[in-house]
Amino acid sequence: MEPIIKIQNIVKSFGRDELKIDVLKGISLTINKGDFVALMGKSGAGKSTLFYQMSLLDRQTSGEVFIFDQPTDVLTEEDRVSFRLQHLGYIFQDYALVPELSAEENVMLPLMMLGYEEPEAQMIARRTLDKFGLEGKYTNRPNQLSGGQQQRVSIARAVAKGPEVLFADEPTANLDGASSDEVIDVLRALNSEGQTILMVTHEQDYAKYCNRVFWMEDGLITKE
Ligand SMILES: Nc1ncnc2c1ncn2[C@@H]1O[C@H](COP(=O)(O)OP(=O)(O)O)[C@@H](O)[C@H]1O
Ligand SMILES: [Mg+2]
Repeated sequence: MEPIIKIQNIVKSFGRDELKIDVLKGISLTINKGDFVALMGKSGAGKSTLFYQMSLLDRQTSGEVFIFDQPTDVLTEEDRVSFRLQHLGYIFQDYALVPELSAEENVMLPLMMLGYEEPEAQMIARRTLDKFGLEGKYTNRPNQLSGGQQQRVSIARAVAKGPEVLFADEPTANLDGASSDEVIDVLRALNSEGQTILMVTHEQDYAKYCNRVFWMEDGLITKE
């Protein structure tokens, strides 16, 4: 097994003095290449906060995050941004698409930021949208797509550049059952191609597709 993210004794606190709260209370775990991980637990347990630390969207109060065996606390803010752009994909429950841009333009955005020429970015974007059943929707803006389609565009945007790890924070929380199943099918297909995926979910039905399930309670992993 090839470790891809290793975290050691991660603590994240907000506020100071008597207002200080420890949202993460010392979490250690290792994610291996090809894992499909479910992170479960009640609302407020700290799941999103844990994802933010593991994906370098935020900086832990103490403890260490290693990605590809490299310590990340030595990276500057600028290095972290470019590292995320190159190596990590992230999807949110509200899709976070740019409303003024078409589906294909949304997917092209990170590719252009990585320096791809426009025709190549467009070709990759369309190929990725096709793969997720969105042929014919290239020029639709987000408000001209269903929730499930929007989430598949956001997955296309996250994976078009071939990230080593995909984070999905409650990707089906806003979707009906049928659209949720479509989104989970896309994630399962990606994982079967080798994509490492970490997903927060409340659905036991979806966790059963994962090879590892972590349970989180009050800032700690209480069970794997
Ligand atoms: N920026 C912040 N400042 C203060 N408290 C925060 C902040 N972000 C999250 N929290 C608190 O941390 C706890 C865990 O939040 P979160 O990670 O979003 O939980 P989950 O994703 O499991 O629902 C909550 O009590 C929340 O209020
Ligand atoms: Mg959350």
